[in-house]
Amino acid sequence: MIEFHRVSKAYNEVKALDDVSFTVHPGTVTGFLGPNGAGKSTAMRILAGLSRPTSGSATVLGRPYAELERPGFDVGTLLDAGAQHPGRTGREVLVLGAMMLGLPRSRVDEVLESVGLAGREAGRAVRGYSLGMRQRLGIGHALLGRPRVLILDEPANGLDPQGIQWMRGLLRGLADSGCAVLLSSHLLYEVEQVADRIVLIGGGRVLAEGTLAELGRGRSLEQTFLDLTSPI
Ligand SMILES: Nc1ncnc2c1ncn2[C@@H]1O[C@H](COP(=O)(O)OP(=O)(O)OP(=O)(O)O)[C@@H](O)[C@H]1O
Ligand SMILES: [Mg+2]
Repeated sequence: MIEFHRVSKAYNEVKALDDVSFTVHPGTVTGFLGPNGAGKSTAMRILAGLSRPTSGSATVLGRPYAELERPGFDVGTLLDAGAQHPGRTGREVLVLGAMMLGLPRSRVDEVLESVGLAGREAGRAVRGYSLGMRQRLGIGHALLGRPRVLILDEPANGLDPQGIQWMRGLLRGLADSGCAVLLSSHLLYEVEQVADRIVLIGGGRVLAEGTLAELGRGRSLEQTFLDLTSPI
């Protein structure tokens, strides 16, 4: 369960988030949509304890991230796929993550397999990874501790069609097994395929939320997005 309660965030005069409230329930994928600069990454960073809200609160499983006792097992995050050390191999990145969580090496092999990086790719330095491979590694890192909550900032960015289809199946499976998944994306078709609910933000404010049917009323998600976020 993820809850934003009246979260605002100001960077000097810029209001990145303005009184944002919404909930992501277990067993669902929520698509977090909005134009560039809408505040999606800011909201996700606050949720992951990397940034403080100016007011309001964001909680995971009922607590702010910093107060979770076993954050690595509660929450998986992918906020910036480019944030790995370029000199480490994919396997080393996951081994370090597994060591921090006290997980056996066998979990690393399982994860490498499940994100499609097993074999030769696992032994290559991250600097030589394509964007899609970095995303796969980042998703793998988020999954290491089998968390009940996933926060993924544009994970489909850079994935090829097979990768996108794989991720759709992965997220659906995780949600069906009880995970709460918050997924930001600009790939509206993909979000339409996998999300149970949509939260649409613009200018730091929640513009609309609900199921696809509630939001669209017969229109495509793209049309709804454009209607609600285009300047008049
Ligand atoms: N560290 C920061 N300092 C100052 N302003 C910031 C900072 N981080 C974000 N902002 C501002 O907050 C607003 C929201 O940015 P944010 O990155 O959350 O948007 P986003 O919805 O993730 O956009 P995108 O789709 O481009 O990833 C923007 O106006 C941005 O310039
Ligand atoms: Mg962003």
